[in-house]
Amino acid sequence: MLLQDKVAIITGAASARGIGRATAATFARQGARVVVIDLDEAAARDAAISLGEGHLGLAANVADEPEVARAVARVIEHYGRIDVLVNNAGITQPLKTLDIRPGDYDRVLDVSLRGTLQMSQAVIPLMRQQQAGSIVCMSSVSAQRGGGIFGGPHYSAAKAGVLGLARAMARELGPDKVRVNSIAPGLIQTDITGGLLQDERRHAILDGIPLGRLGEAQDVANAALFLASDLSAYLTGITLDVNGGMLIH
Ligand SMILES: NC(=O)c1ccc[n+]([C@@H]2O[C@H](COP(=O)([O-])OP(=O)(O)OC[C@H]3O[C@@H](n4cnc5c(N)ncnc54)[C@H](O)[C@@H]3O)[C@@H](O)[C@H]2O)c1
Repeated sequence: MLLQDKVAIITGAASARGIGRATAATFARQGARVVVIDLDEAAARDAAISLGEGHLGLAANVADEPEVARAVARVIEHYGRIDVLVNNAGITQPLKTLDIRPGDYDRVLDVSLRGTLQMSQAVIPLMRQQQAGSIVCMSSVSAQRGGGIFGGPHYSAAKAGVLGLARAMARELGPDKVRVNSIAPGLIQTDITGGLLQDERRHAILDGIPLGRLGEAQDVANAALFLASDLSAYLTGITLDVNGGMLIH
């Protein structure tokens, strides 16, 4: 098993069809003790229970620094170590540039970018002390190709920010044996689009995907497993594209 006895925190892992939940289930099957962090306490707990024995579900808004600090303190109290953090929580909005209001900007940037920073800040001291750790950050193909799928430009900016943050943290934390990598998923079938992606648009998107299908949450979970485990021991600062060839660069 690739994550035997490792403690892995995954944010945004309560959503039943989401990338975070698929990642949590994949990590649990590989022997990890998984901490599901999500907005709603009952949903996070239920998700943890769905993984089997020995996992933990905690409520925290990743954009809220005191909530993040409290949740991570509980993880440390419970397990005594943190081996993996997957910064997966994110939201999107299909807005055009001129329609983005300050509140929209704050909401989208706060979850993906501030959340990634704050969660990472909360686990880094312990990972440093352990001289071991893997942080995986969820970006998006929309950061690389300039949006155009579902999220607005503020979503692309948030996800491009995640790439920059992850790369800079990778450089800074390498000497402490803490690896930081990103995943850039293409279009993955989850609930994030809220059913707003209509069939016609879907067909047009499929035409641009060499592998001829949309992504599954499991496709991204498998990439997260690779980056979380020692299979990727010599990788840091990379961006792993999981997009069926939608963007080849
Ligand atoms: N689905 C896609 O096509 C796609 C493509 C590229 C990137 N992504 C990214 O992958 C990640 C997961 O997306 P998904 O499609 O599984 O979405 P999803 O909506 O199914 O799941 C997102 C989860 O994040 C949680 N969340 C939202 N705000 C939060 C906050 N402030 N604090 C804690 N949890 C919060 C939600 O409750 C939900 O459980 C996101 O970062 C998303 O931007 C998704």
